[in-house]
Amino acid sequence: MVNDYTKQPVALESRDKAGEKLFSPSAARNAVPIRDVLSPRLPESAKVLEIGCGTGEHAEAVCRARPDLIWTPSDPDPSSRASATARSREIANLQPAAAIDASAPGWAAGLQPVDAIVCCNVIHIAPWAVAEGLAAGAAQIVAPGGVVFLYGPFLLEEGSAPSNLAFDENLKSRNPLWGVRPLDTVTDLFARHKFGLQEKIAMPAKNYSLVFSREPQ
Ligand SMILES: C[S@@+](CC[C@H](N)C(=O)[O-])C[C@H]1O[C@@H](n2cnc3c(N)ncnc32)[C@H](O)[C@@H]1O
Repeated sequence: MVNDYTKQPVALESRDKAGEKLFSPSAARNAVPIRDVLSPRLPESAKVLEIGCGTGEHAEAVCRARPDLIWTPSDPDPSSRASATARSREIANLQPAAAIDASAPGWAAGLQPVDAIVCCNVIHIAPWAVAEGLAAGAAQIVAPGGVVFLYGPFLLEEGSAPSNLAFDENLKSRNPLWGVRPLDTVTDLFARHKFGLQEKIAMPAKNYSLVFSREPQ
């Protein structure tokens, strides 16, 4: 019998808890670099949808720096949504978390257009169907001129960091549907949905921020 890995629970990074709020050591480490890359790139009063928000720490960091944004976090995991929603009670421009599984066909149907989709540390630790669903949904709801921002590790054609190659092996041993994604494969996926790679920004610990912009229709 073949295992159906898509039926496994979602993978969550290690987290500490204080009330409903969760705290992730990895999110704490990369929240400031992510905030500093995102904040100057989002247009004034942008509507932002975050996919796979986890604890909500990234949302909190960017919303505190950019109070003009309207940021909706989302996650299929209830404890993550509770954490992000708890943060939203303290931050005026952070909305309560929505339940979105980016691999569910048609997840974006009926949602309001957004200026940006943000997705950090998700597509390597979820089946490839999540990346495909993310790109397809973005094509439906990202407004003209809008962007998709991805953050995480990627494999590079010119040679990948040994730490990312080891991480790729580790992910695949935990679930054959996971893995650090080749940058070219991600770029091709978004190109098929009319998003061009506008920026590739090197981040700490051999991660990258990728900014895809919606091509004119
Ligand atoms: C490693 S955590 C990253 C959380 C947060 N973005 C961060 O960087 O700290 C991966 C997140 O992806 C979410 N996730 C897993 N499968 C997903 C799916 N199909 N659609 C949307 N999010 C998903 C998980 O619930 C989890 O919160």
